Amino acid sequence: MRQNLQHLRSQFSEIPGLTFDDEKGLVRLTLVTPECQLQVFLQGAHVSHFQSLGQEPLLFMSEKARYEEETPIRGGIPLIFPWFGPRRDRPNSGAHGFARNLEWKLTQVQTSPETMVVLELTSSDRTKLEWGHDFRLRLYIYPEKSLTLSWEIENLGERAFPFEAALHTYFRVSNARHCCVLGLDGARYLDHLGPEPIEQQGPINFEAETDRIYFNVPETLYLNDKEAGTQIEISSNALSSIVWNPWVDKARRMEDFGDEEWPSMVCIESGAVRDNEIHLLPGETVILAATYIQAPLADSPAAH
Ligand code: BG6
Repeated sequence: MRQNLQHLRSQFSEIPGLTFDDEKGLVRLTLVTPECQLQVFLQGAHVSHFQSLGQEPLLFMSEKARYEEETPIRGGIPLIFPWFGPRRDRPNSGAHGFARNLEWKLTQVQTSPETMVVLELTSSDRTKLEWGHDFRLRLYIYPEKSLTLSWEIENLGERAFPFEAALHTYFRVSNARHCCVLGLDGARYLDHLGPEPIEQQGPINFEAETDRIYFNVPETLYLNDKEAGTQIEISSNALSSIVWNPWVDKARRMEDFGDEEWPSMVCIESGAVRDNEIHLLPGETVILAATYIQAPLADSPAAH
């Protein structure tokens, strides 16, 4: 059952700084604390905005994003589960799984002792139309000076299942052409735009369409925005990292993305995909977590 605005407002009326509204029928929560602002759509448990006091907004949202039921929202942090990209055994299923398209239940919001928002999605007749397994997903969002997401994936069934998952984060940048990603030097990657797995040499610069899956990545990566003079530090336990910018032609082909928006975003996704997919035993839970910290580039030992 979809959660309605009035009910949410009365259920969480005690929480200071919390409001609800909707964008073309999709419910969105806004939480304003002394440290930051956060916005989350219940559809997809989709963080669409985070801004820490004194910093620029962390996330890119497309001006052409669609706000429709069971439709992915372009930008922010879509949650990818239980498959990444086109489904290999059923190519006609929607890309990147169904978790980003369904409404999650808002189960908890608190501002003390720490600020936390929790959303949940459990397997149902609807999810079983696409994927037969019993599962529970819980997303814990910690909006502080930095943003942390901790995503629990639990097998509620009696059979083990393999799955892929990713925090598909769209970072807002001043100009992708003047950004680079550090931390992946020496990592093996699969290039969607080329045939063979290759090894990364040095930083990633953006000079054309970029769409790569890196495997067994280190815990900390950096996105340096040289034009803005800022850096985003991405710390995650994820083994895969997907680096994506659609560039000119793909941007034109995407209906929910402006032709001129590609320089304003870089996706660095933290996930478990392809060679790093996870097999979850009955009763088992895994956590996929990431923290994003913004800082001036000049203060960083990883300035480049
Ligand atoms: C990335 C993929 O993760 O997501 C790209 O590597 C894809 O190939 C991009 O284009 C966006 O996917 P979607 O389904 O949101 O358009």
